[in-house]
Amino acid sequence: MSGSLNGNKIMAAGLATAFVIIGLQQVTGAIYATAKPEKMGYFIDAPEEAAGGPAEVVLPPDWGTVLPTADLAAGEAAFARCQACHTANAGGADGIGPNLFGVVGGPVMHRPGFAYSDAMGAHKAEAPTWGYDELDQFITAPARYVPGTKMSFAGIRDQNTRVNLIAWLRSQGSGGYAVPAPDPSRQPGAAAPAEGAAPAEGEAAAGTGAETAAADAGGPTGAAPATGAAAAATTQTAPAAPSAATSSTNSPR
Ligand code: HEC
Repeated sequence: MSGSLNGNKIMAAGLATAFVIIGLQQVTGAIYATAKPEKMGYFIDAPEEAAGGPAEVVLPPDWGTVLPTADLAAGEAAFARCQACHTANAGGADGIGPNLFGVVGGPVMHRPGFAYSDAMGAHKAEAPTWGYDELDQFITAPARYVPGTKMSFAGIRDQNTRVNLIAWLRSQGSGGYAVPAPDPSRQPGAAAPAEGAAPAEGEAAAGTGAETAAADAGGPTGAAPATGAAAAATTQTAPAAPSAATSSTNSPR
């Protein structure tokens, strides 16, 4: 009697253990099955969309080439995505976001009366001017470029759309902000050799020369591009880590 009872207890214990193990496997299975691909989805998604150019991550637009031929009407149309929060006309009111008249080439936090985030203040300390590259990166992924910004906007992945938009924004009070000279090292053809290092060096050197010339010609940004590009490379790669930023960007407000 006690023998069979013990046997039952042992069986019960064994079964219980088995259930616990199976249960755990299912729970972990569930966690891995859902959570992992979901995370990876986000990460692979963003860069891949952005990978419409790796050009976008590796090569910023060659402003001297793309701005003169940008489609201003398309840029104005793209601004519809900003209008919930921004005006861009002269004397336009601040809304959820600051008025953007003259922001291209202007100082970061260019509207003194607007309550910017501390994050934007920290960004200003590092990069005080909204040059073309800085704006481009910000609009690509605001929360990645300025972590903690209160601009809750997921970003525009398509480089061409951003170029048109920035060209149009420039037409709103920033016409005096110089367009840099075309930079061969930034042109799409230069992208492939850039990976192979050697030929790219020569081209890059040529590009820097041109840029310095442009700087001498009076562009205030002229000095920045070299370091700007380096900074761009680091800021682009580094922020891949914080997933919080990515998901908060995606969560609707
Ligand atoms: C949901 C509202 C919202 C949308 C949509 C939005 N913004 Fe913003 N934007 C903000 C806020 C808020 C700030 C201030 C950010 C801070 O202080 O961190 C800001 C700041 C900016 C700045 C910096 C201005 C300065 O004075 O330094 C630029 C440039 C900008 N936005 C451009 C855009 C563009 C271009 C779009 C559309 C592609 C856009 N924003 C869409 C809310 C928005």
